[in-house]
Amino acid sequence: MEYTTLGDTGMEVSRICLGCMSFGSSDWREWVLDEDESMPILDRAIDLGINFFDTANMYSRGESERILGKALEGRRDEMVVATKGYFQMDETDPNSGGLSRKAIEQELDNSLSRLGMDTVDLYQTHRWDKETPIDVTLRALDDAVRRENVRYFGASSMWAHQFAESLHTSERLGLDRFVTMQNHYNLVYREEEREMLPLCDKEGIGVVPWSPLARGYLTRPHEEFEDTTRGKTDDYAHEHPYADNGGAEINERVQELAAQKGVTMAQISLAWLFHKEEVDAPIVGTTSIEHLEAAVEALDISLSSGDMAYLEEPYEPVPVSGHQ
Ligand SMILES: NC(=O)c1ccc[n+]([C@@H]2O[C@H](COP(=O)([O-])OP(=O)(O)OC[C@H]3O[C@@H](n4cnc5c(N)ncnc54)[C@H](OP(=O)(O)O)[C@@H]3O)[C@@H](O)[C@H]2O)c1
Repeated sequence: MEYTTLGDTGMEVSRICLGCMSFGSSDWREWVLDEDESMPILDRAIDLGINFFDTANMYSRGESERILGKALEGRRDEMVVATKGYFQMDETDPNSGGLSRKAIEQELDNSLSRLGMDTVDLYQTHRWDKETPIDVTLRALDDAVRRENVRYFGASSMWAHQFAESLHTSERLGLDRFVTMQNHYNLVYREEEREMLPLCDKEGIGVVPWSPLARGYLTRPHEEFEDTTRGKTDDYAHEHPYADNGGAEINERVQELAAQKGVTMAQISLAWLFHKEEVDAPIVGTTSIEHLEAAVEALDISLSSGDMAYLEEPYEPVPVSGHQ
């Protein structure tokens, strides 16, 4: 396994973060694995040297956190555990969502208790909260660090101007600041290259892209996308503009390069991200040990600047997707 320093945190993480949205309960989403099927994949990830895990309170309504906590029992200290809060957890309780002090303190407590941990290494805001001034959110997060419930805090998908405002507000108020950006970034969705990635680079922010394989779109020929349960039933995979503009042609070029190099499409797509300087660790989602092992092997694939340019060439801007 390769390790890298996550942004300016000084904390070492594996270059693959294991996404735990796929672990939890098939009652939540048809393609999600239940506990008995999730455990062997989490164990194998640890064997392979992965020390970085991303979950969220909302994944399988807390089941993902519970399973991750169980899988890491006895080896917690060696692991970097990231979770998130923002989406409403109880439809009858409006304060179980958003980023008010009340929501953050209560939802963080709930996450810690499901994880069976006193502290998470990285607590992330899942989306921007239009109703709560950012200084309220940042003070609550900074206090969570002082209470030792959280070591670092980070953010997920938002506009670059909102992220810049957050960093500036922390500095103005003398608070800890967001140290990571978990954003939507892959070969067929590159809108983050315009503003967010240069900002992260300039500010020493760790970048941990979500859906690095475009929810499976970059792992098989586009005409076969709906051949798997996830391809058929994951609504978000169809809402994102992966197949638009140059998307289908990029998918074909990934196929072509994979055949040429004797590797899989998923491996070429991940290798492209590993070659992007701004990226610390893509958050890979999988429901199979074989696919997990393939992701790790992709760290050894070398792409020339010509390969990178060939994969990127057909891309044309698409509407922003993943946040509003
Ligand atoms: N912050 C946010 O808003 C946000 C949003 C979405 C996701 N996330 C995070 O990002 C993680 C990953 O997201 P994701 O699951 O959407 O992303 P993904 O990694 O882009 O896509 C997962 C899909 O790719 C397939 N796949 C993975 N490795 C493969 C391989 N080696 N060969 C063939 N197919 C392969 C998986 O199939 P198999 O299951 O069959 O392997 C699955 O269908 C989540 O677990 C979560 O932690 C965050």
